[in-house]
This record gives sequence, C-alpha cells and structure tokens, in this order.
Amino acid sequence: MGVADLADYPWDAVAPFAERARAHPDGIVDLSIGSPVDATPAVVRDALRAATDAHAYPQTVGTPALREAIAAWFARRRGVPGLTADEILPTVGSKELVALLPLLLGLGPGDIVVHPRAAYPSYEVGARLVGASPVAADDPAQWPDGTRLIWVNSPGNPDGRVRGIPSLQAAVARARELGAVIAGDECYAELGWDAPWDTDPIPSILDPRVTAGEMAGVLSVYSLSKQSNLAGYRAAFLAGDSALVQRLLTARKHLGLMLPAPVQQAMIAALDDDAHVAEQKTRYRARRDILRPAVEAAGFRIDGSEAGLYLWATEGKDAWESMDRLADLGILVGPGHFYGAGFPQHIRLSLTAPDERVAAAARRLGS
Ligand SMILES: Cc1ncc(COP(=O)(O)O)c(C=O)c1O
Repeated sequence: MGVADLADYPWDAVAPFAERARAHPDGIVDLSIGSPVDATPAVVRDALRAATDAHAYPQTVGTPALREAIAAWFARRRGVPGLTADEILPTVGSKELVALLPLLLGLGPGDIVVHPRAAYPSYEVGARLVGASPVAADDPAQWPDGTRLIWVNSPGNPDGRVRGIPSLQAAVARARELGAVIAGDECYAELGWDAPWDTDPIPSILDPRVTAGEMAGVLSVYSLSKQSNLAGYRAAFLAGDSALVQRLLTARKHLGLMLPAPVQQAMIAALDDDAHVAEQKTRYRARRDILRPAVEAAGFRIDGSEAGLYLWATEGKDAWESMDRLADLGILVGPGHFYGAGFPQHIRLSLTAPDERVAAAARRLGS
C-alpha cells in the first residue's frame, strides 16, 4: 500500500455528531480533538518575533543552541543527563516523524511494526505506508519475531496510561532481544495527575535506569505542542541512539524535513522556561477536576487516564451510542473505534477546551 491507498480520514465520520452538537442552544462543547486552546506563552512569541530575519536555509540538524537547549531540558525535566549534540534531532512537530519513521528506517513488506492496543492512529498509518505489518500489542511477550520497530506511548493517547521504570525496562529488553528499534512517544510526560505521577516525574525511555546507559536502538520522541501550546508552530524533537539519529538526519536532509529558523528560536525559549509549563498544567488540572466527576456521575467509568490530556471513558455501550447521547447535550467527543479494534465501547474526552466550555459540559452532564 502507498499514500494513495490510505483510508478516508476517520474524523469525517464525526461530522454529523458535530453538527448536532452545534445546534445546542448554548453552543457546542468540543472535547473531540487534543488541540490546545490557551495562548502561546509570551516568552515564546517574543522569541519568534525576534527571529523573523531568516534569509538563509536552516539546517536539518537544528542550530547548536537548539540542541543544547534540548539536552539541558532532557537533563532537567526528563532525568536523562549527558545527551550530546549528535544524539538529538528537531522534527516538524512529531506527527510527521511518527508517520514517517518506518520509511526513514527503510522498513517495508514483511517487517512488523508494533504499537499500543489503544493507540494514536499515526503509528499504524506509518507502517501501512511502507507495506509493513502493524501489530497492536502492549505486552512485550507478545511482540513477534520479525518486529523491526516498536512504538510505546507513555503517557498514552487515548488511554492516559503510564509505563513505570520496570515496564519500560521490560519493553527495551524485549526490543533488544528482537533486534528492533524502540521509540517512546512521550509528549504528555509533563501532565501527570494520579499517584504516583502527581509527584513523581513520568520516566523517559532514555532514563538511565531503563537503558543502563546504553541507548542503542532506543529513541525518545517529544513535542512542545501540548506542554507549551505550540501546536501551530510544529515544534518537536527526538533523541537517543546516535547512530540511528545520524541515519535519520541523512534521510531527513534529503527530504527537506527541516524546522523553520524562527521556530527553532521559539523552541529554545520554550525549553528554557519551566514556569509556563507549570501554569498550563494547573489549567488542565482544574479542567480535569471539573470534568472527571461529571463524566462519572453521568454513568461512565474512567479507565487509565492517570496522566495526559484525555479522559478515556466507557458506559458499556457502543461508542457511537455514547456519542449520540452526548451530541444531544451539545458535547462532542472521539469514539474508541478510532484508537484500535479493542475499544468499541470507549470514548475519548479531551481536556483542551476553555474553562467556560468545560464548566458547561459538567453542567449538561449533570442535568
Ligand atoms: C501520542 C501522540 N503523538 C504525537 C502527536 C503529534 O503531536 P504534534 O505533531 O503536534 O507534535 C500527538 C498529538 O496529538 C499524540 O497524541
């Protein structure tokens, strides 16, 4: 299969529910997509504004200052000290990297790409794009021979589950046994809610306790879209095994996958400033504290959701039925069908709505 064979974009199926939700007299509460609604922090916008003279081509590898800022951030925020410049690469947001990684690694028919059972759909898209076979499995013991690439996603989208150190250790050990590359997609790592992740940092796959200091075959993928309200800037990066990073760099140079220079400057400002990340987390926590009890009181059970940007909920009915009921209340959510075959009765509610809309949702769910 190639690009021309990709299925219709699944969100088109949600349009009729959106239309009904919009007809609510007090307007729609859109909790369907994880697109940030709060302003990009001033410190980041100022950095962008100061960098608008960008007459020269930027380098695919990123400026030395950007890579230093990423290394310092990994040491400070992710418990991964000592990354060097050749272990780091900026990406144009992380969705392109997720979807292109099988291609950039040279995978093809006969190769297996493993991804979580409840998963961000781009892992599967990337595998199918090159004719590789996607396998949805969370337990490393179920990752089959022939696996060349494994995606883990902690905290998870859509289910908000976190892999602790022992779980990441088991994943990396199995990847090594298989000779597969393992990539940790970690863009919700700053958003821990339930114990122990309300106080303990959510571990990176590059944590020395996971890798034992040996990063061969291991990559961490991170995005500033969520933590810094930068989704519109397309600002993300990866880090890990230097040999892999250099291979990816070569391919990405040929493809022109480089980050605009002003965005690189804005990223440095975002990575250097922890205050705005804490502020944003406070906003999401307040929304979650209102929405979660309201969703439960309306008859849903919340699964996982210990971290990240979503509530992963079920009322024991097909997701389209739940969508139907919620659309009558003017609330739009995402159906579990979009996140893997195993979750036809789950819905995903995003915390990315303005406070006033979240309050409206809670009121409607209670009525
Ligand atoms: C698990 C996961 N990975 C990657 C992305 C892509 O983020 P971006 O392309 O904005 O960096 C998302 C966005 O929702 C996500 O949920």
